[in-house]
Amino acid sequence: MKIKNICCIGAGYVGGPTMSVLALKNPNIKVTVVDINQDRINSWNDENLGDLPIYEPGLEEIVNEARGRNLFFSTDVEKAIDEAEMIFISVNTPTKTYGKGKGMAADLKYIELCARQIAKVATTDKIVVEKSTLPVRTAQAIKDILDNTGNGVKFQILSNPEFLAEGTAVQDLLTPDRVLIGGEESEEGTIAMNSLVEIYATWIPKENILTTNVWSSELSKLVANAFLAQRVSSINAISELCEVTGADVGEVSRAIGMDSRIGPKFLKASVGFGGSCFQKDILNLVYIAKTYGLNEVADYWEQVIIMNDYQKRRFADNIVSTLYNTVSGKKITFLGWAFKKDTNDTRESAAIYVADALMNEQAEIIVYDPKVSEKRIYEDLDYLGSRSPEENRRLLKVVKDPYIASEEAHAIAILTEWDEFIEYDWKKIYDSVVKPAFVFDGRKLLDAELMSKIGFDYSSIGISKTQNK
Ligand SMILES: NC(=O)c1ccc[n+]([C@@H]2O[C@H](COP(=O)([O-])OP(=O)(O)OC[C@H]3O[C@@H](n4cnc5c(N)ncnc54)[C@H](O)[C@@H]3O)[C@@H](O)[C@H]2O)c1
Repeated sequence: MKIKNICCIGAGYVGGPTMSVLALKNPNIKVTVVDINQDRINSWNDENLGDLPIYEPGLEEIVNEARGRNLFFSTDVEKAIDEAEMIFISVNTPTKTYGKGKGMAADLKYIELCARQIAKVATTDKIVVEKSTLPVRTAQAIKDILDNTGNGVKFQILSNPEFLAEGTAVQDLLTPDRVLIGGEESEEGTIAMNSLVEIYATWIPKENILTTNVWSSELSKLVANAFLAQRVSSINAISELCEVTGADVGEVSRAIGMDSRIGPKFLKASVGFGGSCFQKDILNLVYIAKTYGLNEVADYWEQVIIMNDYQKRRFADNIVSTLYNTVSGKKITFLGWAFKKDTNDTRESAAIYVADALMNEQAEIIVYDPKVSEKRIYEDLDYLGSRSPEENRRLLKVVKDPYIASEEAHAIAILTEWDEFIEYDWKKIYDSVVKPAFVFDGRKLLDAELMSKIGFDYSSIGISKTQNK
């Protein structure tokens, strides 16, 4: 079946970039990305490409080429559903904040709303593609809703999880390690899978497009994120051991990463992983395991989250204890707020939790991040509900210049590994801060020897302090 019209519900970090690349590579397919968030759609349609709602290197150029040609952004969800033969669901699936499974299970209300809306509107057969990350067997629930509330038309459900990483989304989409498509094991299921394979095959070698059953596909996405996060927690656990023994976690990572059985990626110790996916997806995996009574499996994976929370807490505690056990009224400069470099996404960023812990100690935080807006930073803090919005604004300020941010600081903490931080005039910063000049490098970003030579009291994750001197 040749697809001419695609609709994608959800114009977020996944829907926007994914559909931009798909449209770029398939100029004969009309791709309409819809969202209920009018502001987001307005930004996707903004003449000024610098104002797209999502910052990703290389994305502006792609949107510039495809938008208005065969790529459209709209809030008219029903029209786009009606016109499309294939509908991607790319809405958010956050951790539940209420009821059964609170704090663990994925909240599927947005998915269900989409399914009900598709069922209501569709008057022709549709292929519905799960692009969102979902608990295993969600396709069954979607199918039930579609079949029982629809207009008698036929639906095929495919699972096509997205493996892009924010910050490198465009590159990941252009040259993915693999594309995974799960479908029903039937003739109709095979036809549906083949039509999606053909779309990807316009730019991805067919041997990199895997087809599986739906449940394997759904579960593989959760498992991929769990394995990646587990590597980060594993090396973070070792980072503390390095700090007390005199080993250097960077050297340990290099040494073990050169073992081809282990491999070098995701072995960088840090203040802890963030992002919208790792924590939520592992919690979801833990919840599924518990639901099936697999308590040992659940406990095993939960430890990855426990370690990550500990790493963030440990970083904040270390700042307090190093600053003579009090940070009350002291100015602490945060370089970086995004959960990693090259993105403006801050969801679950370690910076939020470190700031919160320090603000509990009445520290004054000054934040500089090259891509994150002041509005976003306050929203992140307000969302935690630790204190009133007024108090958050009193204790934390956002500035647009790293040198101004550092003036008179009692300590500088590096929370995101933005490349530009390496290039700063650290001597100039040293001259403007309160002495002793403390730097806490949560990303192992700066040159320890150089920082010590300038005069900083420099601590980095995974390196014992005595080693720097
Ligand atoms: N962000 C990532 O790096 C990443 C990577 C792989 C997979 N995923 C998964 O992809 C999914 C989407 O993630 P995201 O980061 O793009 O989320 P997001 O919050 O950035 O975007 C989701 C969008 O869906 C819209 N939406 C929600 N309900 C809607 C409805 N009924 N109709 C129309 N629009 C609706 C929201 O307004 C929002 O703009 C999640 O399941 C996530 O786990 C994310």
